[in-house]
Amino acid sequence: MKVSNHIYKFFADYIYKHTGITYLEKDYYRLDSRFKDLMDFFELDSVDELYNKYKASISPDMHAVLINFSTNNETYFFRDKKPFKALTKHILPELNTKYPMGMLNIWSCASSTGQEPVSILMQLKDHAGKDFTRVNIKASDISERALSKAKVGIYNGLDIQRGLPITLLMKHFEQEGEENSWKISSDILSKINYFSFNLLTDSFPKASYHVIFCRNVLIYQDMDNKREILKNMFDALKPGGYLLLGNGESLIGISVPFEKESYDGLTLYRKPVE
Ligand SMILES: C[S@@+](CC[C@H](N)C(=O)[O-])C[C@H]1O[C@@H](n2cnc3c(N)ncnc32)[C@H](O)[C@@H]1O
Repeated sequence: MKVSNHIYKFFADYIYKHTGITYLEKDYYRLDSRFKDLMDFFELDSVDELYNKYKASISPDMHAVLINFSTNNETYFFRDKKPFKALTKHILPELNTKYPMGMLNIWSCASSTGQEPVSILMQLKDHAGKDFTRVNIKASDISERALSKAKVGIYNGLDIQRGLPITLLMKHFEQEGEENSWKISSDILSKINYFSFNLLTDSFPKASYHVIFCRNVLIYQDMDNKREILKNMFDALKPGGYLLLGNGESLIGISVPFEKESYDGLTLYRKPVE
C-alpha cells in the first residue's frame, strides 16, 4: 500500500490530538493496518478515498470509528498476575487501617474489553472475604468498541485461553449460546460501572479513588501528556490511595509526589497518607 506522507500526517495528527497516542514519522507504517480496517469498514477502495472522506468533515460516528481502530486494545485476564495478588494481600489490608468502613473505590482507567476489572473482581470475590461487598468498581476506556464488548461481558475461546485458569472459568463464567463463548457471572458484571473516559481531555474527579489501575496505556503517550495524566491521577486518589502501572511503566522523569512501596517485586505508587 503506497500512502503519501501528508495522509499519514493528517491521521497521525488527528489521533494525537484526540487520544495522545503518538505515531512518529518513523512509525507511520503502523497506520497501514488501521487504514485497511477503516477502508473495509467504510467499503472504500483506496487510502486516498479514506483521506478525502475524513478531510471533508468528521462526524461523531466517523470520529468514534477512527478512535476504535487507532487504539491498541490488547489485554488479557490477570495480566502480569502480581497486581491482583498485591491488591488483596497488601493494598486492601493497608487501606483497611485508614478506611476501615465505607466503600472502597477502584478505577480501572483503561479497561479495554474488561478483562482487567473482571480479574480484579474475581480476585476480590475469592480472596477478600467481606471486603468484596465494600468495593465499588468503575472501569473506563476511550474506545467505544472495547467498552461495548466489556459491558456485554461475553468472551470467546481465545479470550478465555489468555490468563484465565480453568478453575476460575468454571467458577465465574457460564457457557453462552454458541460453543466456546462464555459470559462472566452477573454478580461480577453488575458490579462494574463502565463509562467512556479520555485520559487526555476529560476532567478527573478529585480525591475519589482508593486504587487506580492505569496499566499499559501511558506507554503510548509522550512525556508531557504522561506528566499531566499522572498529576491528575494523583489528585484523583484519596490520601493513602494506590496507583498501579503496567509492567515496564514507571514514574522515571516525572515529579509527582507519590511514595513508592514494593510488594513481591512489584512497585506500587502511593499518595501520602495525610
Ligand atoms: C493496551 S490496552 C491495556 C488494557 C488493560 N489496562 C491492560 O493492561 O491489559 C490500552 C487501552 O488504553 C485505551 N486508551 C488509549 N488512549 C486512551 C486515552 N487517551 N484515554 C483513555 N483510554 C485510552 C485503549 O483504547 C486501550 O483499550
